[in-house]
Order: sequence, then C-alpha cells, then structure tokens
Amino acid sequence: MASERDVRARLRLAGQEHLLRFWDELAPGPRAALLAQLAELDPVALREHCQRAAAACARPPGPCPELAARLRPLPPERVGSMSHGDPEARQRWEEEGLRQIALNKVAVLLLAGGQGTRLGVDYPKGMYRVGLPSQKTLYQLQAERIRRVQQLAGERHGVCCTVPWYVMTSEFTLGPTATFFREHDFFQLDPSNVVLFEQRMLPAVSFEGQAILERKDKVALAPDGNGGLYRALADHQVLEDMQHRGVDFVHVYCVDNILVRLADPVFLGFCVLQGADCGAKVVEKTDPQEPVGVVCQVDGVPQVVEYSEISPETASLRASDGSLLYNAGNICNHFFTRGFLQTVAKEFEPLLQPHVAVKKVPHVDEQGALVKPLKPNGIKMEKFVFDVFPFASNLVAFQVQREEEFSPLKNADGAASDSPSSARRALLAQHYRWAVRAGARFLDAQGTPLPAQPCLPPNEDPPAICEISPLVSYAGEGLDVYLRGRTLRSPLILDETRARELLLAQDP
Ligand code: UD1
Repeated sequence: MASERDVRARLRLAGQEHLLRFWDELAPGPRAALLAQLAELDPVALREHCQRAAAACARPPGPCPELAARLRPLPPERVGSMSHGDPEARQRWEEEGLRQIALNKVAVLLLAGGQGTRLGVDYPKGMYRVGLPSQKTLYQLQAERIRRVQQLAGERHGVCCTVPWYVMTSEFTLGPTATFFREHDFFQLDPSNVVLFEQRMLPAVSFEGQAILERKDKVALAPDGNGGLYRALADHQVLEDMQHRGVDFVHVYCVDNILVRLADPVFLGFCVLQGADCGAKVVEKTDPQEPVGVVCQVDGVPQVVEYSEISPETASLRASDGSLLYNAGNICNHFFTRGFLQTVAKEFEPLLQPHVAVKKVPHVDEQGALVKPLKPNGIKMEKFVFDVFPFASNLVAFQVQREEEFSPLKNADGAASDSPSSARRALLAQHYRWAVRAGARFLDAQGTPLPAQPCLPPNEDPPAICEISPLVSYAGEGLDVYLRGRTLRSPLILDETRARELLLAQDP
C-alpha cells in the first residue's frame, strides 16, 4: 500500500494537497481508506482534470453561441425509418438482424452506471418497479426481451443462439446490481453470458479547481459519464471477451427506457445492411423543450448535440413543413461494430472532450462539518457515449415510433413527464394495442364489455389493463394464437402460463 509520504508527494504534484488536510484527526481505519482512494489517482491526470474543470467553469455558461451557425440536420440518405420505410425493406432488415443474432454475432450492452439522481432512489434504476401488474423491474423486462429475441432468431434459423448481456456499472451500481442479478437467478439467463464491469470515477472539483472532500476521509467522486464506456471496455478487456465469443455487432442502450427493444433485429439489420459502423435510434422530437439530444451534423460531421448544449432558439427552429428542423431525438440506443469500438478504445478515446456539469456536491467545510449545498458548488466532468460519432466512417440514424419504443423513466412521480406513471402507462397502452390488434376484447371486473380502442390518444390510460410478458411477445408478434376472438377480463397478465392455458382452452 502507498505510504502517506508517497501520496502527499503525488498530491503536491497535482496541486491537491488540501485533500489530506484532516489527516491528523483521522483514526487508522479512515486513514487507510483515504490513502487507498488517493493512491488510485494519477497525479498528472488529476492536475489536468482539475485545471480543465476550472477552465471550463470560467467560460460563460449555457450553449455555445457559435454552435447554431455550424448545425445542419442529417442528410436524408443517412436516415432510415420504421414508419416511412416500405414493409418489404422492414422485413429485409428484420431478417438480417435475426440472421446475425442466430449466428451469435450480436451482443447487447447496458449503460447502468448512472446515479439516477432525478428519480431520487438510492439503488440502481434497473431495479426500479414502475408498478406493473406483474411487479417486474426494468432489469427483468430487459432480461426477458433478450431471452425472447434469442428464441425468435433461434427458431427462425433452427439453432440455439446467445445474445450476451454486458452491463456497465459504476461504484454506485455494481454491488447492488450484481446481488440483484444473483438473487433473481440472472432471470434464467446463463450467468456466463451476463458480464458486469465497472466504469471509472472522477473527482468532483470546486469552481476554483480543487478536488472536493465529501468527508474528512473521502474524496467526492462521480462516474465519468456514459462515454466512460470506452475506457471501461479497455480496462476490463470487454472487447477481447466479445471477440472470443465471435460478437461483431453491439447494441448499446440506456437503462431507463421501459420500451427498449434489446438487440432489435430491425435496427440491427438496417445498420448491418447499410454497412454502418455506428448507428443511433431516434424518435421524432416535436416539443423543442424535450430533454433529448438531437442527431444532426456539426460542420458537416454527424453527431449528437445534447439537450443541455443547444439553445432554446435553435431547438425551436422549424423546417418548411412545420416540423422541428432538429427533430431526430436521440433515445440512447446505439449500434456499433466491434471493429469500430476497438479503434475507439485504442485511438480515439483520449481525444474525447469531457462535458461540464455544474452540480450541488455535498462536502466538508474548513472545520470538517458536513455541508449540503443549496446551490451548485462543484463541477463534474463527463464524457458522453455518442461523442465517438464524429469518428465513424458511416453513421446512420433510424427513426422509430415513439409510442412503440420510447418512454424513459427519468423523474419521480409528480413530474410532468418521464415518470414511473408515464412509463407504466406507455407499456400498458402498447400491450393493450397489441392485444386488441390480435383480436382480443376485454371485460371489466364486473363482466361489462369495454370498448376496443386500437388507436389510443397519447398519454391516455387504455380502457383495459393488459400486460404481456416479453417471453410471450417481443414486439407484438405471435399473439393471435392466444387472443384471436377471445373475450378476457381486465386486468390480464399474459405470461407463459396464461398463454398455455389459453391455447389449451376450447376454441371460443
Ligand atoms: C440521455 C442521452 C440523451 C438522450 C436521452 C434519452 C447521453 C449523454 N444523453 O440523456 O442524448 O436524449 O438519454 O433518454 O447519452 N450512465 C452511465 N454512466 C454515467 C452516467 C450515465 O452508465 O456515468 C448511464 C445511465 O445509467 C443511463 C444512461 O447512461 O442508463 C443515460 O444517462 P442519463 O444521465 O439518464 O442521460 P440523459 O441526460 O437522460
């Protein structure tokens, strides 16, 4: 273990000696913990990190004023569409996606290192239950979609195939996620195909460029952003693991979208057939204020401009048909070839510029008393997962329908949008639509027939409650055999057992 002397010398080099200012007061245990934490920090990198944070903070806040003049929408030839494309093309993409999955060439990678501050829970967001009738968590829904897509590809091609699940966690989420997966028996996935790895943490820095002490014996650290992925891939030899398994294509996604289609064959097939090395799923953005990044071009280079970095005036610009000019809303679902990820990890990662977030960081004052700041006092530096887009040789975007594929859980209940209630409603509305289209009719608890409404207005509760297990249907497929001509009582949970019962029951 590093000695106090060594660590002090390293901190001097980094200009951060204040981190040991409570040393004399600390008992042996906390001293050892602090030394261990500080020994991990490379002095040169720490100095640069703190200087960079302070310099970024000295720049005027808000969106970069020159950005607007450099922005353009993506050229249409780079954008595929689920709703505007012809059905034959859609089928070709799906076939190609299923073929690649059947060949064991596809992996999914979950970004799950975030702290979920806006949702206000102290455990990983993936463990959250939005209050579905089945009480499933986001992690369980995701695991079951992996199982189902493996089954669909396997059946189509007469093979048994695997979509490995890589899960990037952070110091905050690794322990609880690993325990949760074990306690739930990896949701019946083979544990050897579930790979958890950890992203790095970076010190939070004061406006004066000093790393912040959260306690007398602990530096305030935060995950290095979802773009920390590329360092974490290298730190933990994840790409080597993928290579070993024969994985060529990776679907990277964020944890909080309850409608996420893992290893979506249509999206994968589209990207593969376009020869893309990088892809982004998008939804049409209609509200300029919606907090989603936009996929566009900056100086002719395709990339995502984050919602925090675009001015309200630019976000509100309209095209001649009245739609928002920058309407390709990023839903944090990305396609990468393993080859591209390898090049990024080897060559481009150091070129990625961190983004600055000004936050309230709890800290100790000069006397060592804990302070919970009421206004922002510190800077967190984060890289973003899509910062690598400018290095792609062929980036494509793929537009999907919002009501089918995007309902993120960001805020606690009570917020106007992106809350547990809105996520639950989006999933139940989708399953209700699927069931009605498959021919089901519903009765209420008293046996009174409910109206069939295959087209529900947005944000409206469906007339009946119907939850369909991802193990029964991934994207609405295959439901006719259970539901055609049936009249069922609400609430209905169509899981595998209920589906079998319906099959065995007499024809209606
Ligand atoms: C993200 C996207 C935004 C998009 C929106 C859609 C980024 C940088 N921004 O915004 O363009 O429109 O989703 O919902 O991708 N995470 C980590 N490690 C971290 C920080 C975050 O793994 O250090 C993970 C989170 O656990 C989450 C994902 O990254 O799964 C997105 O993070 P979040 O902070 O929720 O991003 P948003 O600001 O909502």
